[in-house]
Amino acid sequence: MDLLVQRYVAAMVLSGVGDALGFRNERWEFCTSGQKIHEELQELGGLGRINVSGWRVSDDTVMHLATARALTASPVLEKNLQQLYSKLAAEYRESMSDMTERAPGLTCMNAVMSLRPDHSDGWKIPFNPKGGGCGAAMRAMCIGLRFPHPNELQTLIEVAVESGRMTHHHPTGYLGSVVAALFTAYAVNNKPVESWGAGLMEVLEKTKNYVENAGHYAAENLAEWSYFENHWKKYLEDRGILDGISMPTFPVPYGVIERDEFYTSVSYSGWGGASGHDAPMIAYDAILGSGNSWKELCNRAVFHGGDNDSTGAIAGAWWGAIYGFDGVPKSNHKHLEYRSSLKLLAEKLFELSHPGSCSSQKGEMKCSFS
Ligand SMILES: *[C@@H]1O[C@H](CO)[C@@H](O)[C@H](O)[C@H]1NC(C)=O
Ligand SMILES: *[C@@H]1O[C@H](CO)[C@@H](O)[C@H](O)[C@H]1NC(C)=O
Repeated sequence: MDLLVQRYVAAMVLSGVGDALGFRNERWEFCTSGQKIHEELQELGGLGRINVSGWRVSDDTVMHLATARALTASPVLEKNLQQLYSKLAAEYRESMSDMTERAPGLTCMNAVMSLRPDHSDGWKIPFNPKGGGCGAAMRAMCIGLRFPHPNELQTLIEVAVESGRMTHHHPTGYLGSVVAALFTAYAVNNKPVESWGAGLMEVLEKTKNYVENAGHYAAENLAEWSYFENHWKKYLEDRGILDGISMPTFPVPYGVIERDEFYTSVSYSGWGGASGHDAPMIAYDAILGSGNSWKELCNRAVFHGGDNDSTGAIAGAWWGAIYGFDGVPKSNHKHLEYRSSLKLLAEKLFELSHPGSCSSQKGEMKCSFS
């Protein structure tokens, strides 16, 4: 088992890998059929032969980097979250200058342009009835790396909600950000994966209280609350893990075709993983069904006919936070675009969340905590 600091690095880096593998410079020939994608993958020699050098990361990783930069910009943040939110808004604006050929989402682009990081409350945007996309979820995993401790849960919730609704001010959108952050924190804490979903159900209650009390379009938010919660509850019932103790059960068979069908069935409008509720759900389904196999994780979370780069970015982060780089072919990550930034930010996130366990020696970060 890798040291915890290495699992932090793997979470950031393998999130970028999941994104890049799904995105493939928008070059997968058959985007909507998982079966065709698997055939093409075989022609490339299988996952083990894929060298991601030259495979660009998408908007997902660029915005995840932006979240991580804001979270590591200043050491004491919990006491002054307003300052963090302004920084997040500034980083999201800045990230838009790096979107060429990365297929940024429209909701993100439009919302980011209206953020005013220099004005107090300039990070708040109005409620958006169409803000349920997965753009808030795909960039939130590192919030769980920054606030992993159970006594920081309230901070994790607030930061996930507010960073999420800077672009996706709709519960289906920003609750995806809460799951992405929460499950990363669970992974860091070695919480058994089959209990994550039940944990989420409790955290949703706390999140609802926060949104209600924060008073920013509270009525609109509460009116749209149930979609996300109902879909997750139904999913957890389907897998038999709503109680938080049982092991998950999957349909038999549950191959590429059946998974594509399932991903479509949980989607909002037929594009599995494109929304805030189903991107983390598909990623979680992959985590539950893959154990410690990186290859199986990619098969389930990346190589499917839905919004694969987003589900890949989320699942890659969770898997890395659990297993580190165990069994991941070097060619899959060594030459990833932005790898050194992802690694450096992971180390900073580790240091800030585990103070005193790292020191910088000759420009190299050394961490003793395991
Ligand atoms: C993943 O989805 C993107 C669109 O979001 C598409 O361009 C790409 O071809 C898909 N890749 C795979 C592996 O399906
Ligand atoms: C991946 O490609 C890069 C650039 O072409 C090359 O330098 C590197 O050796 C390759 N890595 C592996 C593991 O094949």
